[in-house]
Amino acid sequence: MSDIDDLRPAISPPVAIPPTYVEAAAVAETDRDPAASAPPPDMEISPRRFGRVAFAHPAEAEFARLLDFYRVRWDYEPTSFPLRWDAGRLVEAFTPDFFLPEHDLYVELTTMKQSLVTRKHRKLRHMREVHPDIRVVLLTRRDYDELLAGMGYGAVNITSLPESDIERVLFSPVEIADRVAELGAEISADYADRSLVLIGLLKGVTFFLADLARAVTRPLAIDFLAVAARTDTNDEPVRLSTSLDLDIRGQHVLMIEDITTTGLTLDFVLRRLRALEPASLEVCVLFDKRERRLIDLPVRYTGFSVPNAFVVGYGLDYRQLYRNLPFLCVLKPEVYARDHAAALSEINRADYTRAHQGGLDCE
Ligand code: XMP
Ligand code: MG
Repeated sequence: MSDIDDLRPAISPPVAIPPTYVEAAAVAETDRDPAASAPPPDMEISPRRFGRVAFAHPAEAEFARLLDFYRVRWDYEPTSFPLRWDAGRLVEAFTPDFFLPEHDLYVELTTMKQSLVTRKHRKLRHMREVHPDIRVVLLTRRDYDELLAGMGYGAVNITSLPESDIERVLFSPVEIADRVAELGAEISADYADRSLVLIGLLKGVTFFLADLARAVTRPLAIDFLAVAARTDTNDEPVRLSTSLDLDIRGQHVLMIEDITTTGLTLDFVLRRLRALEPASLEVCVLFDKRERRLIDLPVRYTGFSVPNAFVVGYGLDYRQLYRNLPFLCVLKPEVYARDHAAALSEINRADYTRAHQGGLDCE
């Protein structure tokens, strides 16, 4: 696939690099999650047969589904990176689970117990030392559950609002109000000679947008867009479920989002907006979970950086609940892990082995 020179470590190895990736891949088997090394009996392990991919772990299949939804091209375990040699022999290599060619990014998923994740982190550090030009991110079990919770897993249940599901408050109503006022002042100054169109991405943003718009002192119009929710039963890729009322050609557009995590949603929306030829297009995000970013986004205004945890309140929901909390808080991981476990077992039954999007090498 790629040139062998791409793999040459920055520090000269003491011996020759193995001539093919195949050798490296064989060594990489030691890198596997021990819990995942024995595949369930109904799961085939020979990858990329007949243009289909059989995954070593159901979480990988689920992640592939997520990428497909966002029409992000991916390749499964395409490359093994040599890490360590001993007496002329390659003794350690690293094979990230996914490569996203459009973003030049490798993603390693690990569903191992937290205690084993430390070892994985060490491996990634080693990888970054030996191959500093390769971008690779690690998603742990917890990151992963959060990611999927954000994508709307679980059915709507508005019969209860248990306080016991809340771990801690991150930002109080006053802290949020102060920061929104600052953002409003900053935007008013930047657009001092212009009027603007605020476009909010439904639904969570309505709370933020209503407050922000009142803190902006320039003339402005408001419009909304919505991205169709991903469902377990539907393999349709991402799409807008509403269109704009306003014609934004030649307008100064400020895209408003409540929270951004991977950046996949905003990236999709921004592409659509750019095609409508606004005079300018900037992004304002209230809560930025930057640690989890997969795709670089041009975010001009950020309210708060939030830690890598699933948050609810001030418009943000979990299964449609908690939007009306006036503060932002962290939901206990057990809450979404519990629901996600149920969803995942469904997907396993469906045996997701969908072919890659976009015709990447899948022979
Ligand atoms: P990304 O940037 O990953 O964001 O495309 C996708 C969507 O996920 C939701 N999201 C969250 N929702 N608490 C939420 O209530 C969270 O911590 C969270 N993280 C992501 C959000 O709707 C965003 O548009
Ligand atoms: Mg959202």
